Amino acid sequence: MKTIAVATQKGGQGKTTIALHLAFAAEEMDLKVLYVDMDEQGNGSLVLAGDSRIAYESGYSALTTGALFDSTTGGHVKPLVTEKNIDLIAPDPLLPKYIQGTFDPGSPALAAPRTVLAQFAQEYDLCVIDAPPAQGQVLAALLAASDAVISPMSIDLFSIDGVGNLLETITQVRDAVNPALMQLGIVPNQVNTRSKGEMSTLKDLRSAYGALITPYAFNLRYAVKAAISSRKPVWKGVSGTSHSKAAKEWKDNCRTVLEQLDLLESN
Ligand SMILES: Nc1ncnc2c1ncn2[C@@H]1O[C@H](COP(=O)(O)OP(=O)(O)O)[C@@H](O)[C@H]1O
Ligand SMILES: [Mg+2]
Repeated sequence: MKTIAVATQKGGQGKTTIALHLAFAAEEMDLKVLYVDMDEQGNGSLVLAGDSRIAYESGYSALTTGALFDSTTGGHVKPLVTEKNIDLIAPDPLLPKYIQGTFDPGSPALAAPRTVLAQFAQEYDLCVIDAPPAQGQVLAALLAASDAVISPMSIDLFSIDGVGNLLETITQVRDAVNPALMQLGIVPNQVNTRSKGEMSTLKDLRSAYGALITPYAFNLRYAVKAAISSRKPVWKGVSGTSHSKAAKEWKDNCRTVLEQLDLLESN
């Protein structure tokens, strides 16, 4: 199993949208996918299972994000099987009971998600972690459990300002517990190609950060929002030129990421 975290500490950057599309793309390639919905708002769960409060509603009968932070969780509690053929670890409102606070390399909670997820390594090809809009120990523990991390960012001052903290957490986790963590980079998302200012800022960012910013990006397209609202990937039910462009962009970019994770033959 390969595990990828989609992480940035700021909300609204496209973490859930990208995490869902990676999961859909992998599922369509017949890979077995596990989706970990760490955002308490449960947007990913709403798309996959039709319910943002599924863990609670189902009486905690399936594995939840809370149990992920308890290394005594036995392999007998399974993730939830969804109608999308993507299994789900749904958000647990009790999560803060198990883990909170700032990065602490000595705490057992830091290693828990890695231990719990390892129990499912034979059952899944890909585990996608939709990280919460937070930093500190929760994010560090998720990064400790991951093979790779990708970080969407929109091109505006506040989003760019947050990148330094994220990079610091990635470095701390690599140094302390997970030297193999692959940084796929910061992927520009919701890029408004009609804005000269934004395109010029993106160019400046690329020259300042170099390879840290992915060569590919996701442009701002209404079809993306509409697709997620109908609980589908953007490449399903394509109609019109703008929608086809969005479909191709998301398919190509997801493929690139899955290739980087060695889950596909590159050709
Ligand atoms: N490339 C895009 N084009 C248009 N809308 C997008 C794009 N990426 C994300 N969105 C929309 O932006 C909003 C925030 O995205 P979301 O994935 O929920 O962010 P996060 O999980 O980081 O909070 C959602 O309404 C989503 O549909
Ligand atoms: Mg989200």
